[in-house]
Amino acid sequence: RTARFTLDPAFTVAQVNPRLFGSFVEHLGRCVYTGIYEPGHEHADEAGLRTDVLELVRELGTTVIRYPGGNFVSGYKWEDSVGPVEDRPARLDLAWRTTEPNRFGLSEYIAFLRKLGPQAEPMMALNLGTRGVAEAIELQEYANHPSGTARSDLRIEHGDKDPFGIRLWCLGNEMDGPWQTGHKTAEEYGRVAAETARAMRQIDPDVELVACGSSNQAMPTFAEWEAKVLAETYDLVDHISLHAYYQEHDGDRDSFLASAVDMESFIENVVATCDHVGARLKSPKKINLSFDEWNVWYQSRSRSEVAALDWPQTPRLLEDVYSVTDAVVFGSLLIALLRHADRVTVACLAQLVNVIAPIMTEPGGPAWRQTTFYPFAAASKYGRGEVLDVRVSGPTYDTRRHGTADLLHATAVRAEDGTLTVFAVNRSQTESLPLEVALNGLELDGVIEHSTLSDTDPEACNTLAEPERVVPHAGTGTSLEAGTLKATLEPLSWNVIRLA
Ligand code: AHR
Repeated sequence: RTARFTLDPAFTVAQVNPRLFGSFVEHLGRCVYTGIYEPGHEHADEAGLRTDVLELVRELGTTVIRYPGGNFVSGYKWEDSVGPVEDRPARLDLAWRTTEPNRFGLSEYIAFLRKLGPQAEPMMALNLGTRGVAEAIELQEYANHPSGTARSDLRIEHGDKDPFGIRLWCLGNEMDGPWQTGHKTAEEYGRVAAETARAMRQIDPDVELVACGSSNQAMPTFAEWEAKVLAETYDLVDHISLHAYYQEHDGDRDSFLASAVDMESFIENVVATCDHVGARLKSPKKINLSFDEWNVWYQSRSRSEVAALDWPQTPRLLEDVYSVTDAVVFGSLLIALLRHADRVTVACLAQLVNVIAPIMTEPGGPAWRQTTFYPFAAASKYGRGEVLDVRVSGPTYDTRRHGTADLLHATAVRAEDGTLTVFAVNRSQTESLPLEVALNGLELDGVIEHSTLSDTDPEACNTLAEPERVVPHAGTGTSLEAGTLKATLEPLSWNVIRLA
């Protein structure tokens, strides 16, 4: 019943791209308003940004931050979101049946990133739903051109002398989804994405572009969509996007715990499709993957919430409260991303604050960490370096949705200074899992720390009333002797084991 694997520095997956620890801010519910931005709050700075939230975002360790949507972007008019706040119009947001006041816009987003520090990088999504090539290059000129043209001078007039330097751009959002405003067929989208990319590269050949892939692996057009879109855009884009959300269905927790099986197969299938197109085109170029929306999300609850709305401003929407079980699955999704760091070079946790988020706030009140905050912060802090190849042998279990799955899901990252971090999830709901890792050719003396997220109550969560109900605790009985790491993983647990 012991799960085992061997680590050897000769067998690596890839260097982790820091962009793997990105997140996402959409104009949706209270992600922006009363989330990151709340003028008048006791912790708001002069720009209206909540400094308590800024501090938590820094602790979370997020890198790129995708903005402004999501489904919102397919109706977004960037011109509405710049210039004097009092002149900005309120608009209907068709995606979420709300009214967008445009008090926070492009300039405020860049100010937010700059306040976070140099690790925070913009990732701007373009509206290819209701708009097209012209508006994309106008926005690029406004954002990135230094000066001396109508739109760059307008930015300067608006108070932003320095260009925003946005390098990473998403060519639309979920254009394969019939729910998307301006939804397109793969052929229609492939053409507009290609022409937008071509025009953007005329301004700046060094922009990095993400073409829309499928909204999830179960889409009826999955794989065919990627193949058709890439047939048009292969030489013009750098990444293709993937989105995936997981939830527990009908009390089937065993399947929910194996959600990463689906995520890994999704990644591998998209890689295969990209490489198939590359082979057909006889291209030496590889398209990388931008997993720019991923999380646990109880979507079925959100649908009725949104349908009932009558165009309010900043309602409470998609405010999922995450349990210990959710955090363990979430940690397993992080492991899946790290295990594919050779091709997944950008990933964005959707989203950052209040909306299916690791950070929650109360308007006029405090901010706190959800259970999912902890796996993300640990992965971002210790998941930097080189991913080592992990091939698990050990006990398995059967699931209704994902077939047979290993009870252990794991990866390992070796930092530049030689320290090693093993991230591991025990998917068993009832049994502890003994773990043995043979460390070949790794000069390691001992265990620095074994941190575990688990609880006698797998439904436990952090709330306004009890914001620190769930925090990681120390694992016990973890040892490193004669080149073998031994640990016992508690039932239903996420684990971070650090060795030096
Ligand atoms: O993150 C919430 C929504 O999920 C996004 O707006 C959309 O892109 C996806 O369907």
